[in-house]
Amino acid sequence: MTAGDVSTKTKRKTASRARGRKPEGRPVPSGLPAREAAVRLASAVLHHGRSLDEALAKEFQSSALAARDRALARLIAATVLRRLGELEAVLSSFLEKPLPERQGDLWPILLAGAAQLLFLATPPHAAVGLAVEQARRDRFARRYDRLVNALLRRTAREGADVLAHCDAARLDIPTWLFERWTKAYGEADARRIAEASLAEAALDLSVKGEPAPWAQRLGGIVLPTGSVRLKAGGRIEDLAGYAEGDWWVQDAAAALPARLLGAVAGRTVADLCAAPGGKTAELAAAGARVTAVELSASRLARLRANLDRLHLDADLVEADAATWAPGHAFDAVLLDAPCTATGTIRRHPDILRLKRPEDVAALSQQQARLFDNAVRLLKPGGKLVYCTCSLEPEEGSDQIARLLAREPRLSRLPILPGECGIESDWLTPEGDLRTLPYHLPNERAELPGLDGFFAGRLVLGG
Ligand SMILES: C[S@@+](CC[C@H](N)C(=O)[O-])C[C@H]1O[C@@H](n2cnc3c(N)ncnc32)[C@H](O)[C@@H]1O
Repeated sequence: MTAGDVSTKTKRKTASRARGRKPEGRPVPSGLPAREAAVRLASAVLHHGRSLDEALAKEFQSSALAARDRALARLIAATVLRRLGELEAVLSSFLEKPLPERQGDLWPILLAGAAQLLFLATPPHAAVGLAVEQARRDRFARRYDRLVNALLRRTAREGADVLAHCDAARLDIPTWLFERWTKAYGEADARRIAEASLAEAALDLSVKGEPAPWAQRLGGIVLPTGSVRLKAGGRIEDLAGYAEGDWWVQDAAAALPARLLGAVAGRTVADLCAAPGGKTAELAAAGARVTAVELSASRLARLRANLDRLHLDADLVEADAATWAPGHAFDAVLLDAPCTATGTIRRHPDILRLKRPEDVAALSQQQARLFDNAVRLLKPGGKLVYCTCSLEPEEGSDQIARLLAREPRLSRLPILPGECGIESDWLTPEGDLRTLPYHLPNERAELPGLDGFFAGRLVLGG
């Protein structure tokens, strides 16, 4: 299909609609602002290298968009980022020649339209009509409005058939990442990890009290690890217990590392790399005397706000945890190091488009520096849990192996099956935690999965 290859009937209809008033003069159709926001969000990630969270904060800081439209914009943008390879394959299969260079937001408009048609069950008249309208309001894409109409109509009719022959795992996961997973886990598991990473994650909550009453009240289930799981969607702030600070959002796998420190009531714990504070909250709720260390002032402010909502307390320190030296040691240290976060693609599909192979090496060097300082902060006999939400061995098991080799006073305290509800196939032969996105299956399609977390537990000899 080309810019000129549009049926005469369609041409006549679109021409008569476009005649007369300029698009900017027409009333804004309902649903358009959400689609425009979605295209800006996807472009911010794909063309400007911003994270989706940053883009969302910027997009909505002064936006009049209603909560429902914001959620829709996020959903469309996240679907474009998650399913980019498949969407490009479908659209490209209908294009006879590449799109011209200077075309404004034409391509992201097409991607967002196709995402709605193929993955979000948006009625074709809405997805196509609003994409055409969007193109008409874009200075450079305007002259391709008929192409948008024809391409998306064809996507609505034939796109599902093209999709059925696509290898989603290979198209949507960047080759370098899929190859890394194949090397680390084998081809079959790499494929399972990829497929599970492309599903949207459920909403997991860590609750202060007993989980069962909260699961009942919120219409969720209690997981074997004690987290409460709900179907994702809707405004978190509107759920019962949010304003009262009875729970916080935290993936079930992310809730495990802090609990691996065991009974912490009355003990001093350094929580390194702490914001936004899910693990700080767990430790504080368990009665620990927590010092939370975080490099970013803005993220530390968010941690403070989160603790305030939860009526929990901790000492907050803005510092580089790789060099921080408070002059005293702690009973326990938790290091949740910055990482490529490849275990959290379900929640952060922008990772697929932003991370590069070289990030693994750079971050693993930073993790080693943080790890060395974590050991310096530990009292003899103290426990240290190191964790990352990465699937890459360099950011997980290799860090533990290297630290044990250079620090003979440390030894591994293997994690045992059943501890904190941990299943045996989430553990490595050495006794480290290695959750994968396909773990914790569930017969309800919206409830399975875990973030890919690594955690190792060590103890410092006297
Ligand atoms: C994986 S997140 C931590 C998540 C947090 N532990 C939780 O459970 O909510 C990593 C955090 O480390 C922070 N960070 C990165 N480098 C750091 C450093 N050198 N010192 C302290 N914090 C750092 C980042 O700003 C980010 O907030």
